[in-house]
Amino acid sequence: MTGASPSATTAARKKIPAEEWWRTEGGFFLLSEAHRADEGPKAAAFLESVLRLPPGSWVLDVGCGWGRVALELAEKGYRVVGLDCSKVLRLGRILAEQRKVDLDLVRGDMRRWSCAPRFDAALLWGMSFGYFSDRQNLEVLRRVGRSLRPGGRVVLDLHHRDWYLAHYLGEHVDLVQGKVAHDEATFDVGSGRLNILSTLADGGGKVLARQWHSFREYTDDEVLARVRSAGLEVASVHAALDPRPRRPRPTDSSWQVVARRPRSGT
Ligand SMILES: C[S@@+](CC[C@H](N)C(=O)[O-])C[C@H]1O[C@@H](n2cnc3c(N)ncnc32)[C@H](O)[C@@H]1O
Repeated sequence: MTGASPSATTAARKKIPAEEWWRTEGGFFLLSEAHRADEGPKAAAFLESVLRLPPGSWVLDVGCGWGRVALELAEKGYRVVGLDCSKVLRLGRILAEQRKVDLDLVRGDMRRWSCAPRFDAALLWGMSFGYFSDRQNLEVLRRVGRSLRPGGRVVLDLHHRDWYLAHYLGEHVDLVQGKVAHDEATFDVGSGRLNILSTLADGGGKVLARQWHSFREYTDDEVLARVRSAGLEVASVHAALDPRPRRPRPTDSSWQVVARRPRSGT
């Protein structure tokens, strides 16, 4: 694989602090993430089953990307606002027009963005939580909580740290629509961050796009403690998109937390 050497990882990291990794995002997301489109319907089915919101409910998708989940929910009749800081929103707008769905996509930084407390549900989906410093991650949770009406719920869809540390470190190669997707993942014990350099190349090994991702990998209990510190109540915990509540097992690569803004108090 051309260019996916440890020195490339180091060079990419040197330029930008870990919590600002998303600034490296270029065409990578557009080129590589479209193949995971089938995860949108699965996520929407899980959310429908767990949240049981009436059609017309307001949903905020924080870090919505190109709208993989937001588009599905909007198609089901929810009123969806997607927030993202990157240019992938452009793809979301094109897809919303093609699919003839009403979807409000807003460009903004989740660490600073705020709105009136009007949402019935909010999402931090597809590992959209954990990019920043501990302080900023908590601030994101607090802000998302404040966007909810009292009794509204936020759903986090997260890496399961135990699974990622056991199965994801090192190199991974995948074929994506005729292109080679290469991930090189390392875990920094000191900062508790999983750092991934993703490279997309054509069949001849020419690099088409490269992106560095860095996630703070919290343990299950650390996530739940942060949710509570943000003034939210843990309503249920799920694993691998199973709507029946359960704690994640070592074999689950993802887990989900449903938390509620208290009806009174905060
Ligand atoms: C891993 S993607 C998940 C996208 C989407 N939730 C999904 O499941 O398809 C994370 C998204 O968070 C966005 N993001 C990263 N930092 C952000 C910030 N500071 N404010 C808003 N969005 C951010 C990225 O641009 C990216 O689209």
